[in-house]
Amino acid sequence: MTGAEGGSTVAEPAGHIDRARLLAAYALPDRVTSRVRMNFVMSLDGAVTLDGRSGGLGDDADRLAMGVLRTLADVVLVGAGTVRAEGYGGLRLRGENVAWRREHGLADQPRLAVVSSALELEPAHPFFADAVTRPIVVTHAASDPLRRAELAEVADVLVCGDAVVDPLAMREALAAEGLAQILCEGGPHLFAALIEVDAVDELCLSLSPLLVSGDAGRITAGGHEHARRLRLVHAIPVGDLLLLRYARAR
Ligand SMILES: NC(=O)c1ccc[n+]([C@@H]2O[C@H](COP(=O)([O-])OP(=O)(O)OC[C@H]3O[C@@H](n4cnc5c(N)ncnc54)[C@H](OP(=O)(O)O)[C@@H]3O)[C@@H](O)[C@H]2O)c1
Repeated sequence: MTGAEGGSTVAEPAGHIDRARLLAAYALPDRVTSRVRMNFVMSLDGAVTLDGRSGGLGDDADRLAMGVLRTLADVVLVGAGTVRAEGYGGLRLRGENVAWRREHGLADQPRLAVVSSALELEPAHPFFADAVTRPIVVTHAASDPLRRAELAEVADVLVCGDAVVDPLAMREALAAEGLAQILCEGGPHLFAALIEVDAVDELCLSLSPLLVSGDAGRITAGGHEHARRLRLVHAIPVGDLLLLRYARAR
């Protein structure tokens, strides 16, 4: 196996993956440099959802990798579309993952942040109601001040940008809160906004052994075309699923 930033592939016996090995494979080079790491699961034919959600695409290996990625993060970030579509919220690390964070001087749980312009998010939504740390809402100066005030009752509100959320300003604002290691769990529109300003440092992609067809979208949606080059850090097959880690090409 190679180090965290190594470039070769790693083979696992079919159906088996060791959590400690994944922690090493996804290790961060440092915790000071602010970075955005994306995590997606995708079918072999490029679908980002099955029945409108991502859950049906993943398996136990993908969920284990997701737990490891969350364990390594200071903040888990999502777009409001994902929160609305998936009833996303209530993220809570347990057992070994919490123990690992304590050993490494981290808070028991990463923070959770949502990016939104419309702020059509109810304070009673599980994202806020089931939160185990105070959630963060990232919005911009032109969003509705009344909705912002309402959400400020249940979350910290960060204003980053004038008419849309500026991802670079957001990264700086999160780092200023001590949240330099950002794990972004989607969705496609937020991913495109991050690619637009070249704010994506890593893509951790689970390639699910499914053909889905239908009209599901890609892992990015909207934005302009760009060619941001990444390099392969690892490719770990677990059974028929492939855990891919790509990092920004220097
Ligand atoms: N396969 C996977 O790994 C995976 C991962 C995540 C999501 N998904 C799927 O993706 C679908 C949701 O797609 P989506 O593209 O709508 O999700 P999304 O990217 O999570 O949400 C889009 C929303 O995020 C907010 N947003 C994004 N960029 C912004 C910016 N620069 N400034 C201000 N607001 C910004 C806006 O919220 P407002 O509308 O509130 O303004 C926008 O409508 C769901 O079906 C979900 O299941 C799949």
